[in-house]
Amino acid sequence: MKLINLKNKAIASDYVAIELLKLIQDNPKAILGLATGNTMTDIYPRFSELLEANDTDLSEVQTFNLDEYVGLEPEHSQSYHTYMHKLLFDHNSSWQASNIHIPQGKVDDLEAESKRYEEYLKSIGNPDIQLLGIGENGHIGFNEPGTSFESETRVVDLTDSTVKANSVNFDKIEDVPKQAVSMGLKSIMRANRIILIAFGERKQEAIRRLLEGETTEDLPASILHNHPNVEIIIDDTIYNNLK
Ligand code: F6R
Repeated sequence: MKLINLKNKAIASDYVAIELLKLIQDNPKAILGLATGNTMTDIYPRFSELLEANDTDLSEVQTFNLDEYVGLEPEHSQSYHTYMHKLLFDHNSSWQASNIHIPQGKVDDLEAESKRYEEYLKSIGNPDIQLLGIGENGHIGFNEPGTSFESETRVVDLTDSTVKANSVNFDKIEDVPKQAVSMGLKSIMRANRIILIAFGERKQEAIRRLLEGETTEDLPASILHNHPNVEIIIDDTIYNNLK
């Protein structure tokens, strides 16, 4: 596990965007594992600019998102479908709708949808790069503390702290969905390379525990100790508090 301080969100977002671009330039059939949330908001616009500047062919690139809220239509303003389209997919006409994969959060049979998503992910192949944010409680995807390291895509209950953290993007806390369809820890670990990104004071304790601590289901991100190719990108705030 490599720890890299990239000082601030702007530099870190540039770095991640460049890594994604290089991957696609090396392999036009690359598979990207994408995350949402406030940590990623500068990465996708930057990545879009670089794709445009290089006239990059995206026609064979596949993307998978980690999760979607249960109960939100794809068109809902706070769905992760909308987030991804607004920040990334709507900015380059070379993205192919059929290669963009995000779980459906509003279907009759969520269990079948979770299974379908996991099987599809497996059939396409392992993501070349998986981006991850981290929750204040150490979740990755929406795999909350106590999640089995063997977990695959399924419906999960969000903890109160996650609902509260996510409420910044909703008018009121009652509007925040309490469940999500999320890739599991085992699904995430299949990626060939993992880049976890964390900024600011709120994430400092989770990163400290991740770097110092044992591998335990109490801290879902600690499963990454078992992966051979992980970068943890942090900013000055977190770095200076680790000393
Ligand atoms: C989002 C996801 C979550 C977030 C995490 C951090 O797709 O899977 O694990 O990465 O909750 O969220 P932000 O970046 O909003 O602090």
